[in-house]
Amino acid sequence: MSRFEIVDHEYDVVVVGAGGAGLRATLGMAAAGLKTACITKVFPTRSHTVAAQGGISAALNNMKDGDDWRNHFFDTIKGSDWLGDQDAIEYMCRHAIPAVVELENYGVPFTRTEEGKIYQRPFGGHTIDQGKGGMAKRACAAADRTGHAILHTLYQQCLKHKSEFFIEHFSLDLIMDEAGVCRGVISYSLEDGKIHRFSAQTVVLATGGYGRMFQSCTSAHTCTGDGNAMVLRAGLPLQDMEFIQFHPTGIYGAGCLISEGARGEGGYLTNSEGEKFMARYAPTAKDLASRDVVSRAITIEVNEGRGVGPEKDHAYLNIMHLSPEVIQERLPGISESARLFAGVDVTKEPIPVVPTVHYNMGGIPTNRHGEVITKVGDDVEKVVPGLMAIGEGACVSVHGANRLGTNSLLDLVVFGRAAALRAKETLTPGKALPPLPPHAAEKAIALLSGHLTHTGTLKTGAVRARMQKVMQRYCSVFRTEAVLKEGIAALQAVYQDYDKIGLSDKTIIWNSELVELLELKNLLQQSIVTLESALARQESRGAHARDDYPDRDDTEWLKHTYSWLDDDTTARLAYRPVHMYTLTDDVAVIPPRKRVY
Ligand code: FUM
Repeated sequence: MSRFEIVDHEYDVVVVGAGGAGLRATLGMAAAGLKTACITKVFPTRSHTVAAQGGISAALNNMKDGDDWRNHFFDTIKGSDWLGDQDAIEYMCRHAIPAVVELENYGVPFTRTEEGKIYQRPFGGHTIDQGKGGMAKRACAAADRTGHAILHTLYQQCLKHKSEFFIEHFSLDLIMDEAGVCRGVISYSLEDGKIHRFSAQTVVLATGGYGRMFQSCTSAHTCTGDGNAMVLRAGLPLQDMEFIQFHPTGIYGAGCLISEGARGEGGYLTNSEGEKFMARYAPTAKDLASRDVVSRAITIEVNEGRGVGPEKDHAYLNIMHLSPEVIQERLPGISESARLFAGVDVTKEPIPVVPTVHYNMGGIPTNRHGEVITKVGDDVEKVVPGLMAIGEGACVSVHGANRLGTNSLLDLVVFGRAAALRAKETLTPGKALPPLPPHAAEKAIALLSGHLTHTGTLKTGAVRARMQKVMQRYCSVFRTEAVLKEGIAALQAVYQDYDKIGLSDKTIIWNSELVELLELKNLLQQSIVTLESALARQESRGAHARDDYPDRDDTEWLKHTYSWLDDDTTARLAYRPVHMYTLTDDVAVIPPRKRVY
């Protein structure tokens, strides 16, 4: 008999994940009268959205720079290196304005202008009139703790709407029926060691990114892309996994984030010669070029021997010239991080920085309503009934090959809200649910029991460290066919060692060792499709820079990658066209052109 007791639940909607997207969807669903549960691995206000710093973009024009959402639309398409779907980008940039006003009304404590309006600062790649009017002040900021402010406010709103939370539940797998309909989700409750079986009209995955497959990243230890891996195991594809964003300014050594807001307030990068080198790479936008451009520039400076420090392997970010009042009011968080993690007083010394994995442009493919899509026959956008995805775990795709800073918090709230609107439109509160497929939890229980009885000798941490080293080395800022092929071989060797891991904790209550093992499997599975998608794409676009194919190739590669994982180990790829159309005549399609900043 199994050690795992099963607890059954029925809801209209189950949201998995309690970051910005999950909470915005949860509150919207609950407010629409749908019985909604939110399952989360960590306490909601500890979700990784809490770490977002610099701001959330919306063309409010509070700083009177003539901004307009159409500028935002253009910048996002250019930032995406034309891989973003233009209908979804139109939707996001237009809805940015009401979404931020809604957050303000919910109570987000934004920093204020003299007039009492939301303060907005410049950010990389955000411009006025296609760059002709200079940089736009579009990032709505709560000092440099914007994610923290938004996450706490959304959680309060969820409580106000009486949403139900299942906290410290690790989601194991989707429940899919034979017709390919998602019927629910299974979780393991750390607190009591029980298996919870949720039956629902719709499951919404809001499980975030998978930055932890890399050695150095700004992501929390919890960012293991659990929803993405559940989708792979359900026989569904992920999309555009080759596009991994390196943030130019992770703290050297520690990896934690120094917000681009520091450069938005006037900070600049220097090399070992004291040169403000960004002027050579992006003559107009300089330090406020798009992130892929700045990360490549730092990497080239280091590779050509102009890095700083004893190993000449990083760059300096300078904000010493900013007034102490600006630093104290607008950049207090990064000042503290620099002191704690680099031992630097930012008013006197530069901060040592290095490009660090920050964001996953790829994820679970969806349409702009948050509905998950897949390829069935010739239909490359077939909606998967009963399944939605939002936030960093999803790929709408509004970020294409490279996301602009501050468009992530925006994506969370705009598409969290869109998913709730869609659910309100399509679901009936309290509708009777058909019985779940027989044996719905058996596979998950067998997996957990297997891990607990297995007698391997390797430790999860050691295998995870090897995976992270492989990804950091072979799937970095610059890639080549040879390097990626080596990476695939090295990763497959690591994956084989997964089965040799043994747990020292055999209990079922609060077994964090077990959770780490399950997270590792999730990361390994996503690493395989990431490397294979990167190997297949023979061009350079956005964050995917191939030394052996240095140019963008719109004839062959203006398309999204779909990647499946067959038999748990083998990637299979297919492609779907980018949406080169808009939703309305308020904006015209922006055809591909050379991308310079
Ligand atoms: O640099 C930052 O503050 C990060 C913002 C973002 O990734 O959107």
